[in-house]
Amino acid sequence: MEQQQQPPSQTGDETGRLDKRTPLAHNDRQRGRPAWRKVFEGPMTPAIEVSQLHKHYGHVHALDGVSFTVEQGEFFALLGPNGAGKSTLINILAGLTRATSGTASVFGYDVQKQYRQARRLLGIVPQELVFDPFFTVREVLTIQSGYFGLGRENRPWINELIDSLLLTDKADTNMRALSGGMKRRVLIAQALVHKPPLIVLDEPTAGVDVELRYSLWKFIRRLHRQGHTIVLTTHYLREAQELCQRIAIVNHGRIVALDTKDHLMEKGSGGMVHVEIKLDPMQAFSVPDAWKNCLVRQDDCSVTFRIDRSQHTVLEFLDQLRAGGANFKDFTLHEADLEDIFVSLIHKT
Ligand SMILES: Nc1ncnc2c1ncn2[C@@H]1O[C@H](COP(=O)(O)OP(=O)(O)O)[C@@H](O)[C@H]1O
Ligand SMILES: [Mg+2]
Repeated sequence: MEQQQQPPSQTGDETGRLDKRTPLAHNDRQRGRPAWRKVFEGPMTPAIEVSQLHKHYGHVHALDGVSFTVEQGEFFALLGPNGAGKSTLINILAGLTRATSGTASVFGYDVQKQYRQARRLLGIVPQELVFDPFFTVREVLTIQSGYFGLGRENRPWINELIDSLLLTDKADTNMRALSGGMKRRVLIAQALVHKPPLIVLDEPTAGVDVELRYSLWKFIRRLHRQGHTIVLTTHYLREAQELCQRIAIVNHGRIVALDTKDHLMEKGSGGMVHVEIKLDPMQAFSVPDAWKNCLVRQDDCSVTFRIDRSQHTVLEFLDQLRAGGANFKDFTLHEADLEDIFVSLIHKT
């Protein structure tokens, strides 16, 4: 792992072991400090450990032998096309879905057999907007806080969540009166209400405006700096590229790539390149059939292709275009980004 974050503060007065026999809530309330702090004092138990996970929904094999580990303090992305199995995996971690076989644990606690302990250390922002329409934002957060045995002492944190997620004006509004984007903010606050050391966000920015996306990432980055482990699934590959340290790409229920972002980009960009061809707007240009599946975008002035250099050289490509009668003025090359790497991996699997 390239960057291991240290706990925010170490008291050093413990044996350093996470006592698996004592329920965390009880243990930590007695000591008057947050439950999650203890996790960091323990040995470096992985935040997530998944082994040979399978999930069948009837004939659908949603997860087909998934194994991976996320270390404490990582910012980890789970990427994959729709239907790849990302939400299924996350729902298994949250204890919302049972795996057909295999094991999953959160800070060493089995998500099925030690559900309560695992759940307490985990905050999940689900993909689906589920909410109770009868309560106000603050009530929803206070009730959720109560589920984790937290009372008055958690109010400052609830206020901080409300402020950081730009919900201040809506704190006393009923959930049913909120827009989709606002509801998403409440879901995020709800997931964080017990300050879980592991935060899993399933497409948190799907359909939210730029302002929230910006404030959300600022806030999540801050939590990461403070030592929280973050796992993110997103359709916006740029987000993953900017935020995450390690990336798993999932397709058809399997992990097809798992590496640090830097390695993935290095490996990927060796093969893929964008060729942008400047067109003469006065001359017609039609994309040759043989290259249609490499087309990235086209307008009056330019056309961009994604070329896999392990299969064709750029010169070969340009020669073929010319031989087909294309007349162009100039071209530029761009190195591949995460999206190209993603597309090439998904097409191969
Ligand atoms: N509750 C369910 N019942 C039946 N099939 C499901 C259910 N949830 C997910 N699936 C199927 O499992 C596969 C993986 O879905 P999902 O985990 O939601 O993928 P992703 O989050 O990557 O888009 C898909 O084929 C989906 O249709
Ligand atoms: Mg999903």
